[in-house]
Amino acid sequence: MNKKRLLSQINPKPGISSIEPYKGGNHNFSNANLINLASNESFVGPSPKVVKSLNNSSYSINRYPDGSTFLLRQAISERYNLDVDKIVCGCGSDELIDILVRSFSGPSDEVLFSQYGFLMYSIAAKSNGAIPIAAPEYNLKTDVHSILSSISNQTKVILIANPNNPTGSYLNKIELELLCREIPKNILLVIDSAYAEFVTDDDYDSGISFVNKFDNVVMTRTFSKLYGLASLRLGWSYSSKYIAEIMDKVRQPFNVNSLAQIAGIEALGDFDHENFIVKKNKENLIKLKNGIESLGFEVMPSVANFVLVKFKNFSYSASMYDYLISKKVLVRKVTAYGLPDYLRITVGKIEEINLLLQSMQEFKNVYNEK
Ligand SMILES: Cc1ncc(COP(=O)(O)O)c(C=O)c1O
Repeated sequence: MNKKRLLSQINPKPGISSIEPYKGGNHNFSNANLINLASNESFVGPSPKVVKSLNNSSYSINRYPDGSTFLLRQAISERYNLDVDKIVCGCGSDELIDILVRSFSGPSDEVLFSQYGFLMYSIAAKSNGAIPIAAPEYNLKTDVHSILSSISNQTKVILIANPNNPTGSYLNKIELELLCREIPKNILLVIDSAYAEFVTDDDYDSGISFVNKFDNVVMTRTFSKLYGLASLRLGWSYSSKYIAEIMDKVRQPFNVNSLAQIAGIEALGDFDHENFIVKKNKENLIKLKNGIESLGFEVMPSVANFVLVKFKNFSYSASMYDYLISKKVLVRKVTAYGLPDYLRITVGKIEEINLLLQSMQEFKNVYNEK
């Protein structure tokens, strides 16, 4: 039989055809030598101790990595004072999110998240045959009552990014506790704390205390953001032992490579580097926000390493995006999130922020003259 005809008769599982593939910030531009302010990566990079240990370590590429990620889980457990058996490591927190959605939902189940929640939630739901449901947001912030009133008998998993990407807003401890308390106990709540390490506000909780209190709550974390290890793909989750054991059944046996395990352990031990980045990010975030505001654009409040900027309409934001590319600065369109008038901009080095601001000012001058 003709191969073309055969292929057209092979259909993916329901839901998969409707997925719009996730496109990273540098999609189409990976060779373009741009200043990348599009993917919320670290502008400082990993700890020098990580780089040194990767260069010196005696891992063997011909050997499988430790499938139990034992030493890494032990390092996480010591750092945060958590039971090592309640930690699962993954190939980025994306993988852990998929494992959780896959383990706890399936065809005709609903997976619930906030209207402007992280894009991968809907992809995880659809690729596992479940139905993605977005609860309305007000003022670009997850709304606890809206989430609660969107729960149905089919809801199996709720995902909340805290802080959220791309809005930069977060639920405080009181709001998060209310959510944890009110959600029926047969629904899994995933608190995705990918940006937790950047947040220093007293009213913030990464989710650890809620996992300790509520058996149906899981927290996910990543080494991609503050720790600057995005390319190694490393994330971890903290949950009840019961949930961790389910995740262990479903995950690939060697899902975290040896380099990522070595790097993660080193990264967690370099407090100076971590504190330096938190401080630097805060300084540069303020510089970025103030600079954009002084150009007359609205910047949403953010506690993470990026800001969401509002422009007067889609044509303006799209033209601004193109102009910035022409100046070698890559930012992120957020049309796929339903925010066509906005651009998301990652905190960069001071010289990168200066180039961005100068380019935005130039664009504004040209656009206003038209
Ligand atoms: C809110 C949120 N969750 C999860 C991730 C995935 O991170 P990773 O798979 O690199 O750990 C991201 C990445 O941008 C994110 O913004």
